[in-house]
Amino acid sequence: MAGLIPQDFIDDLIARADIVEVVGRRVQLKKAGREFKACCPFHDEKTPSFTVSPGKGFYHCFGCGAHGTAIGFLMEFDHMSFVEAIESLAALMGVDVPRSESDKPARRYDELFSLLDAIARHWQDCLTDSPAAVEYVRIRGIDGSTAKRFGIGYAPDGWSNILDKFGQSPEATQRLLATGMIIEKDNGKHYDRFRDRIMFPIRDARGRTIGFGGRTLGDGEPKYLNSPETVLFHKGRELYGLYEARQALRNIEQLVVVEGYMDVVALARHGIDFAVATLGTATTSDHLNRLFRLTENVCFAFDGDRAGRKAAWRALENALPQIREGRQIRFMFLPEGHDPDSYVNELGTDAFLNALDEGVALSEFLIQELASQVDMSTVDGRARLAELARPLVNKIPPGVYRELLIESLGESVGLTAAKLERMLGADKSSGPSASPARGLDNRRSSKPVTGQPSVIRHAITLLLNDPAACLRLDVEKLAGVNRPGVDLLRTLIETVQSEPNITTAGLLERWRHDAEGRHLGKLVASEVPLDEDFDAATELGDCLVQLETAGRKERIKFLIEKQRVSGLSDEEKAELQELLKAA
Ligand code: CTP
Ligand code: MN
Repeated sequence: MAGLIPQDFIDDLIARADIVEVVGRRVQLKKAGREFKACCPFHDEKTPSFTVSPGKGFYHCFGCGAHGTAIGFLMEFDHMSFVEAIESLAALMGVDVPRSESDKPARRYDELFSLLDAIARHWQDCLTDSPAAVEYVRIRGIDGSTAKRFGIGYAPDGWSNILDKFGQSPEATQRLLATGMIIEKDNGKHYDRFRDRIMFPIRDARGRTIGFGGRTLGDGEPKYLNSPETVLFHKGRELYGLYEARQALRNIEQLVVVEGYMDVVALARHGIDFAVATLGTATTSDHLNRLFRLTENVCFAFDGDRAGRKAAWRALENALPQIREGRQIRFMFLPEGHDPDSYVNELGTDAFLNALDEGVALSEFLIQELASQVDMSTVDGRARLAELARPLVNKIPPGVYRELLIESLGESVGLTAAKLERMLGADKSSGPSASPARGLDNRRSSKPVTGQPSVIRHAITLLLNDPAACLRLDVEKLAGVNRPGVDLLRTLIETVQSEPNITTAGLLERWRHDAEGRHLGKLVASEVPLDEDFDAATELGDCLVQLETAGRKERIKFLIEKQRVSGLSDEEKAELQELLKAA
């Protein structure tokens, strides 16, 4: 859908949009030097750490890490879709959004929201009308006011309850399809997705229903059925219970991440209003970003069994890149056979809160788990632990937290932090290659990213912050380099060179839908020297020279190794001689 809007229109729009105006209409901004400041609209704070940079067309909060362009701001703050944000910006500037293909009318999201709202209310009424459903909810320990607070309902049995009530016209049927409430058969006929299930509305940050989870009353399969991905509902982003938690609490001191709908509801029923659930998926970094906008303390609750520890480990891996000063990530484990729902219902609120207090810090959990995989009584075992820790520690952004973790790790393996740091940073692949054959077959294989912010990362950061600085660079210097990120750097340089007026925000928007580029915003937000005499163009030039030299060395090493193993072609011999001469 986004592809229908021509890229150059987006480039242009974002270059002309005044981010100060866009943000300033919604948040009170104060001028501070070249930038503007405010208390962050995405998390609770008393001193302003939210800055808007008109030059870069970018906003960034030093407190919670929220960042993005004018388009991104509209998406986050007004919960617009990408296309809606573009339409809104265009309207602000009085231009029409061109469509390269057909001129489809913009999707009417408002109508979809009100449709889901009406369905949720309808199902709530159906619950009261169904003795069996009321009984099920009662047996699960949910009282009337909790059911109401979460909008719990019941979808009666039958193939066309929703279809008949809400799908009277072709447009209405289309809306039911778009929201996933009905399913289309091969013959073009439709039927209701949710039948004979207890329904949990999933709400967005503003409380609008965007999807549903439905549980069977008995042991039908599947136990839970969720809305499919729709324009309104993205599983990897949404958290069940977040809206309700924000409604219940003025100040969110901590959030507990649980697995299921029932866990959230049962905890709320017992006065624990700060639980949220991912929707049948592992915790993503999108999830964590959302959580950390609301609180500094996040605790994951898992079952004490093997599956629970495995899920916890996955959550830990996803959480590492989100670690920052002041953020606390903990893990709590319930006794085997319990989930938060059964635990709190059986043992009560205080027992759950005690178990929560006994949760372990992320660093402790990490070390415990790794230590359980090696023999800590031997030197080899401890070295192995350091080895296992390396890729994990390197996912943590540099800072105090990482240093503290390295210190505790050092204590566990009996090394000083400095020594361990060196070990963790050491790039094995730059030593004598353990398996030359692999290196030869696969020249472009990516090497593990090592500790220090790499030259490539630094170059990309400089370029994003000051695109014009790369106008005179010679990308051919990168020809022989094969490291992770080099293709991205190269494409960025080429893009700026062919669109010399592109802005920071314009670049970010170009890479919005790209897996690798989704993280570019973080680099813009990371510090670059701001003093007047800093010359980004020179610094970027230096980066390219460094990369070129490194690339040449790698190529020499590769050719020499190949010569030894299998011999070189005449062409390669000539190349090697050239390279050695230049080196
Ligand atoms: N889930 C799902 N689809 C399934 C099973 C589970 O989406 N077929 C998701 C739901 O979000 C569910 C969560 O995974 O809430 C946890 O599943 P499970 O532990 O099986 O269920 P409980 O929450 O314990 O459900 P209940 O107590 O109602 O049996
Ligand atoms: Mn359960």
